Amino acid sequence: MTEHVLVEKSEKLLILTLNRPDKKNALTRAMYRTLADAITAADGDPNIRCILIKAHGDMFTAGNDLADFAAVGNSTSAPKPEDANPLLPALAKARTPIVAAVNGRAVGVGVTMLLHCDMVYLSEDASLIAPFVNLALVPEAGSSLLMPLRIGHARAFEMFVLGEPVNAEKAVNWGIANRAVPAADLHSVARATAIAIASRAPASVVATKMLMRDEALLLARMSQESGHFVRQLKSAEFKEAFTAFSERRPPDFSKFGSP
Ligand code: COA
Repeated sequence: MTEHVLVEKSEKLLILTLNRPDKKNALTRAMYRTLADAITAADGDPNIRCILIKAHGDMFTAGNDLADFAAVGNSTSAPKPEDANPLLPALAKARTPIVAAVNGRAVGVGVTMLLHCDMVYLSEDASLIAPFVNLALVPEAGSSLLMPLRIGHARAFEMFVLGEPVNAEKAVNWGIANRAVPAADLHSVARATAIAIASRAPASVVATKMLMRDEALLLARMSQESGHFVRQLKSAEFKEAFTAFSERRPPDFSKFGSP
C-alpha cells in the first residue's frame, strides 16, 4: 500500500486515484503493486462491479518513474520475475470492467493502460504521449499488439516511434477513447458511466468483457515486449536518453549504429 494511490470503495465501484501530483503521478513500483493488488482483488469481491481509475493534480500520469527505470538499467544482476511490473498482467487478466478518466497529459504506461480499460473519458485538454522510442525503449503492456489493432499501424507507429502527442479530439476519432468532456465534468461523467456499468447484470458484463479479450495472447505479447524492454533499459541508448531527460536536453542518438 502506498499513499500515492488512493483506494476507495463506493456504490459498487472500486475507485483508484493516482495521488503523486508533485511528480506528475509518475508510477513507482509501490504504486504498480497497489494498483495491481486492488484490481486483482476486485475480481473476487462481490461488492465491486466496476473499477474507475483517475488522478489528482494537473495531469493523469507522466508514466513510469524514470528513476526506477534507471535503477533496473544500472543493475548488474539478471532480471528476476518479481522485478516485472505487476500492473500489466493484472490488467490483462482483469475481469471487472474498468473506466478511466484522463485529465491533462498521459505519458507512456499512462497511455498503454488505457488500451486495457473498457471505457475511456478524456478531458478536452488531454494529450496522450507514448515516447517509448524517444527514451530508447519499446512499447509495453501489450500495446505493440493492441494499439495497431485499435488505431492502425501507421498511427500507432507515429505515436510510438515519433512520440507525437495525440490530442483528445484525435484520440476519440481514432477510437482510443469514448468521449472528450470539459475538464470540470470529467470525473462526474466517468463516475456516472462506471455506476451505469455496475447496474447491469454482473455475470453478463463479465462474460462480455472476457469474450472481447484474448488474455493468453496478451500475456504472451507482454512477455515478448518485456524481453526487449529490459534489454533496452540496459543499453547505452537508454543511458543517453535518461541522461538527456535529467539534463533537460534532447537526446543525441547519432553515435549509435544499427543493430
Ligand atoms: N519519473 C520521475 N519523475 C518525474 C517523471 C517521471 N516519469 N515525470 C516528471 N517527473 C518529476 C520531475 O522530475 C519533476 O520533479 P522535481 O520537481 O523534483 O524536479 C516533477 O515531476 C515535475 O516535472 P516537470 O518535468 O517539471 O513538469 P512539466 O509539466 O514541465 O513536464 C512532463 C511534465 C510529463 C512532460 C515531463 O515531466 C516529462 O516529460 N516526464 C517524463 C515522461 C516520460 O518520459 N515517462 C516515461 C514514459 S515511458
